[in-house]
Amino acid sequence: MELIARRSEWRALLAAHRRAGARVGLVPTMGALHAGHLSLVEAARGACDVVAVTIFVNPLQFGDAADLTAYPRDLEADLEAAARAGVDAVFAPSAEEMYPAGPPETVVVPGPLASLLEGRSRPGHFEGVATVVTKLFSLAGACSAFFGEKDFQQLVVVRRIVGDLDLPVSVVGCPIVRDEDGLALSSRNRRLGTAERPAARLLYRSLEAGRRVLESGGTPERAEQEMWAVLATDDLVRPDYAAVVDPDSLRPPAGGTAGPVRLLVAAEVGPVRLIDNLAASLAPGGRPIT
Ligand code: PAF
Repeated sequence: MELIARRSEWRALLAAHRRAGARVGLVPTMGALHAGHLSLVEAARGACDVVAVTIFVNPLQFGDAADLTAYPRDLEADLEAAARAGVDAVFAPSAEEMYPAGPPETVVVPGPLASLLEGRSRPGHFEGVATVVTKLFSLAGACSAFFGEKDFQQLVVVRRIVGDLDLPVSVVGCPIVRDEDGLALSSRNRRLGTAERPAARLLYRSLEAGRRVLESGGTPERAEQEMWAVLATDDLVRPDYAAVVDPDSLRPPAGGTAGPVRLLVAAEVGPVRLIDNLAASLAPGGRPIT
């Protein structure tokens, strides 16, 4: 496995692979790799000839300096995990390498999709994500890029950027990987204390409760109330939002129309902000498809 820290070398390596006829699978990460990331690597290995993982904790997407400092980092363990998973090349640049002139003056400002949900609570977050992802795509060149559905809004925003800017990237969304108790895997879970870890299960439970409401014919509004109520059953959990939205527009589903919806929640569990989501379907009139 090759480890590369310089942008020019990364660009040259992936271009050489492409010239040799290889399909490049890009897996952008911020490190602290877990089974969720490795499922993206697995998907990339299945669809591409070369798997290229990036590990970069992007300061631009953290509004809160304390959150950036607390973000887990363990490059050595990440490299071992990547090598075991059959990754071909890792790009792990420093912040100075990624942003040699300091914080960039030219940024990618995503549209309204980025101002909802996470965007409302974390102003500037998606601008930081959009800027670094566009840089990573620019360095990688034509490729397939694999993103987890755990960050569902990020996936929707990235797809939109690729479409709007005609980037030569095929974005592949991959299913959420969960612990046995339903908690979605996240690098942030490492920061949960022993009392907070059981409380964190409430995110998935609230999603299941919301889906049950829809399955029994309840409205999206009723499902949102139920999701919030489940989150609020533990004092360690401070809910931020509980939403049922159209999976493309991320807006409330049009009344009376059938089709897929996405249930999304965010909450602070102790000092850790967690997000999760689940797919469901509505039948005409807001009633569920069985
Ligand atoms: O999902 C992440 O880990 C990050 O937001 C990403 C896409 C690697 C950009 O920094």
